[in-house]
Amino acid sequence: MIETITLAASDVTGSEDVVIVPLFKSAGRLRGSLLRLDQTCASAISNCLSESRFTPDSGETLLIALQIEGAPKHLVLLGLGDRSAQNPHGIMRAAGNAAQLVKKRRFKRCHLLVSEAPAKMSPAEFVYAIVKGCMLALYTFEQKASKETSASVQSLAILSPWPEKSLLHAVEKARTVAGCVARVRDMVNMPGNEMTPAEMGRAAAALAEERSIHCRVLRGAEIKKLKMGAVIDVSKGSAQEPRFIIVQYNRSKQRLPLVCLIGKGVTFDSGGISIKPWEHMEEMKGDMAGGAVVINTIAAAARLRIPLRIVGLVPCVENMPGHTALKPGDIVTTHSGKTIEILSTDAEGRLILADALSFARTFDPSLIVDFATLTGACVIALGKRIAGVMGNDRRFVELIIEAGRTAGEPLWQLPLGEEFSERIKGDIADYKNYSGRDGSTMTAAALLEAFAGGVPWVHVDIAGPYWSDGSGGSYLPKGGTGFGVDCALRFLETLARDKRARKLLKK
Ligand code: BES
Ligand code: ZN
Ligand code: ZN
Repeated sequence: MIETITLAASDVTGSEDVVIVPLFKSAGRLRGSLLRLDQTCASAISNCLSESRFTPDSGETLLIALQIEGAPKHLVLLGLGDRSAQNPHGIMRAAGNAAQLVKKRRFKRCHLLVSEAPAKMSPAEFVYAIVKGCMLALYTFEQKASKETSASVQSLAILSPWPEKSLLHAVEKARTVAGCVARVRDMVNMPGNEMTPAEMGRAAAALAEERSIHCRVLRGAEIKKLKMGAVIDVSKGSAQEPRFIIVQYNRSKQRLPLVCLIGKGVTFDSGGISIKPWEHMEEMKGDMAGGAVVINTIAAAARLRIPLRIVGLVPCVENMPGHTALKPGDIVTTHSGKTIEILSTDAEGRLILADALSFARTFDPSLIVDFATLTGACVIALGKRIAGVMGNDRRFVELIIEAGRTAGEPLWQLPLGEEFSERIKGDIADYKNYSGRDGSTMTAAALLEAFAGGVPWVHVDIAGPYWSDGSGGSYLPKGGTGFGVDCALRFLETLARDKRARKLLKK
């Protein structure tokens, strides 16, 4: 990705190799630094606009080579569409296009001249989205023997009319978040034979050490001792021993409110005995995306010094068939003592999350938030770009939806209630893990709700957006997306810093 990103409140000097120039549609006459750049470039920009060689539709790019004394050698005109319509997703996608073009043409150092922010975004939000979009569009993941020595963009200098001080934080935050998103993508993209439960434990421990976060990784025997029957039983069919990751940030700061984040960490979900069809089964190497989001969000929260106590819990298992595997009809005794009858071994996420949820309550948190690639039905309902959100406290659900909106990670609320909690009641056990395809995103969430046991809880089903088929634009290449990190961080920041939100967290 990009090594150095700098800010300057200045004009283009003419010594630049390439300058990216974002332009809004029907902006009228060029003004300020844009006008001055156009003048030094012998009206190259205004000519392209007036001759309609470049209509600044969102994401459109045009590379121009110049040979003019005192002007940059190249310009990349970048369309941003309607100034009033732009949102974080559009900006990230457009900025990503420009970054990929600059990389493809092998420019090492590039400049970007911004003069105006979209109508509905502050300059800081605008710059944040530009930096994040550029960085994430340059993300790649490959494990080929022949490493293509593709040149990468080394530096980005942002020239803007706004005081440097007001943007510094945005740039730093965008870098931190993009770095954490990239790590989630790496973990999701790593094949299941490498990103095993043990490896997730090692990755969490390594990251925690780097950020001075407290981390414990429980192994099979300790998990058994804690009576987490679901984690043990789901991993019975696999040669991979389970792990239970516990990361704690601000652990000793008892006076700060405590938020618990839980992430589903199924490092490969074959479905178990209720085995899945083969098509797209490889995407189930990313069934630990929720866990990766939790680990990396806490790493980012630590870097940004968010004033909260945060506990992260990630049950890690591999769900496999085999002669020792969990079977339909089996009954699992969870950490809480409650039993669940297995109807489908493919509904494994809710089982391990049930253990994690009741274990979370032993920390006495003010709020529990879980991220999980939980149900295929959520993808059917909301598609591949939007996550489902459910919870037992409307106010927290509203706050996280708002956080997702500003992050460009949309969340849509789905219902919970008696209709669904009735359906998860067991015939011979306390609960059952499946009760039909209809509404199965909600019945899965209803089971989690039962194990949250009245503690304020929000559940984010990321089964759709954890993975990209490559059609989402430049900053969302095929594979893991890292969806959830930015939303979770903004949500935590709101809880920590917004007076009204903070009040919702009981001490
Ligand atoms: N990991 C899957 C859900 C999933 C599906 C995530 C597609 C991402 C993309 C989960 O464990 C699962 O298999 N769910 C089943 C449950 C069903 C058997 C009740 C599903 O939703 O189909
Ligand atoms: Zn499954
Ligand atoms: Zn799963």
